[in-house]
Amino acid sequence: MATSIEGITGKVVVITGASSGLGEATARYLAERGAPIVLGARRVDRLEALASELTRAGAKAVALETDVTDVAQVRRLVDAAVEKFGRIDVMLNNAGLMPQSPLARLKIDEWDRMIDVNIKGVLYGIAASLPHMQRQKSGHIINVSSVAGHKVRANGAVYSATKSAVRVLTEGLRQEVKPYNIRTTIISPGAVDSELPQSISEPDVAEAIRDFYDRVAIPADSFARTVAFAMSQPDDVDINEILYRPTLQEF
Ligand SMILES: NC(=O)c1ccc[n+]([C@@H]2O[C@H](COP(=O)([O-])OP(=O)(O)OC[C@H]3O[C@@H](n4cnc5c(N)ncnc54)[C@H](OP(=O)(O)O)[C@@H]3O)[C@@H](O)[C@H]2O)c1
Repeated sequence: MATSIEGITGKVVVITGASSGLGEATARYLAERGAPIVLGARRVDRLEALASELTRAGAKAVALETDVTDVAQVRRLVDAAVEKFGRIDVMLNNAGLMPQSPLARLKIDEWDRMIDVNIKGVLYGIAASLPHMQRQKSGHIINVSSVAGHKVRANGAVYSATKSAVRVLTEGLRQEVKPYNIRTTIISPGAVDSELPQSISEPDVAEAIRDFYDRVAIPADSFARTVAFAMSQPDDVDINEILYRPTLQEF
């Protein structure tokens, strides 16, 4: 177990999409620094393996199977944090998918899934955590957007629309939660090594994205460090937006 870090150690953090990629890396990073972690995702076997590994290393971690498209399951995840650890300090709405394709291919099921997970899943995370944070008069909601939430490119219209929506929702939230002493952060990463490109079903698009990731993607702990930076600021400092890319990434 690493030494105690002010602003991280002891903070109760709920992470959606903690079974791989950015969420998993953040769970490890924060748990090693003494934050109790509540892990949510659908692949519960992976979550339980991660929770056991973190617990064996001396951290506090619990895993709960959670589909973020079901508000009741997201509430159960957040309520579990409060029951087990007494409060929720950080809600990291991270679960997402990126099945990119040209609009003309009419992958309507994939559009629906991106809207359900990337937008509604974030809203459900807000709905589940906000009442606790209002009562506590403290908390921090961190929502994951993307460079794609700032820029749209061919094949990425729906994904960009969902990630743009995350930014808009989070800025609205920021303005509304002032009376409750709640902080909000949007994190917009560029290409980061994870399982995200595997959600692309169109072979030509998948190949192009794979080539791009192989060339430029950076490790997922880059994301974990941005979460740690935002949450470890003094209580009166609210880091509202972080946009970062691999140094090699052009757009
Ligand atoms: N990697 C990048 O380059 C990059 C760049 C910008 C933004 N992002 C964003 O970062 C976030 C994390 O993605 P990642 O890169 O770490 O990809 P990843 O490795 O594919 O992880 C995605 C996570 O989301 C979870 N998830 C998907 N659907 C879910 C659902 N219905 N309910 C609960 N969990 C669900 C997955 O868990 P289960 O399948 O087990 O449910 C998994 O843990 C996403 O919002 C993504 O858009 C990533």
